[in-house]
Amino acid sequence: MITLERRYSSGQIQHDWQRSWVCQKLYFKLAAQALQLHTGVLQGREAVVAIAKALEEGSRAIMCASTGNTSASAAAFGAYSGLPALVIIPRGEVAMGKLAQAMAYGAKIIMVNGNFDTAFQLVRTFTSKHEVTLVNSVNPYRLEGQKTAAFEIVDTLEDAPDYLFIPVGNAGNITAYWRGFKEYHELGRSKTLPKMMGFQAEGAAPIVRGEPVANPQTIASAIRIGNPASWKGALDARDSSGGTIDMVSDDEILEAYRLLASHEGIFCEPASAASFAGLVKLHKQGLDLSEKRVVCIFTGSGLKDPDLAVSSVTPHTVVVEPTLEAVEAVALS
Ligand SMILES: Cc1ncc(COP(=O)(O)O)c(C=O)c1O
Repeated sequence: MITLERRYSSGQIQHDWQRSWVCQKLYFKLAAQALQLHTGVLQGREAVVAIAKALEEGSRAIMCASTGNTSASAAAFGAYSGLPALVIIPRGEVAMGKLAQAMAYGAKIIMVNGNFDTAFQLVRTFTSKHEVTLVNSVNPYRLEGQKTAAFEIVDTLEDAPDYLFIPVGNAGNITAYWRGFKEYHELGRSKTLPKMMGFQAEGAAPIVRGEPVANPQTIASAIRIGNPASWKGALDARDSSGGTIDMVSDDEILEAYRLLASHEGIFCEPASAASFAGLVKLHKQGLDLSEKRVVCIFTGSGLKDPDLAVSSVTPHTVVVEPTLEAVEAVALS
């Protein structure tokens, strides 16, 4: 099922706080749900392809470094395919929901004292030495799976959107989406190509700053990456499409995260909200989208990071005695 939802058409803006910003049409693509991915994150679609190819090639095990979601997806489809999954994650930096998934799916989890970039280097070295298939986005088959999300957008809209807003961490996503749009365009399935608008977190924005970030920091743990593997792919997507790669602060990410949940009923994880935060930021800077069709990609579910949800949202929670009067006193006040 494709869950590409129509929101905000001009003259039909729901929220006073943003009455001043308008896209002709704004769509939210809930990337994880497009394939009914039970992993709750977009990476399922590419894990399926990478692992299918690993099986075909007679691989005995798969391995990835991860900020959490890639490991959850690799572990899930590894379990399904009977391939042992080895995941290396930065210790203390992976959201609880993602860790719980990898554990439940039975992956062997190796926590390193270091960040994602350290973990990724280790995985690259390990897989070059041992007969274990690397399933991070440098595995070319992953991008082949990932690009299908762009096909779905074109199929649904019957053309490419004018703009695509997407979070950027290791930059596999933006690279794959751009590939998908280009291929569909070459096949005549779309008349146009979108401008690719990638957003990094301010404390983890190597592409924006033009150099690796040694100690990346952001609440959006999925994009806490200082030296993206697909850096070149992201630059190509930006430059060939006439788009941008920009950054948003943690405050902007959190504001978008809360707004999406409380006004749209979309509970995505903070990294996902970076796409919408980027849209709000550029609108405030004067980008005119009033005649444009815009898609925001929401990459993963907010349930992955329940600790952040609980700590960053003002709860409307009241404890009462179990009587009707007590409930009425609160509910009707
Ligand atoms: C939820 C979520 N959003 C965004 C990203 C960023 O994608 P990429 O690392 O391909 O840029 C990731 C990557 O793991 C992710 O898990």
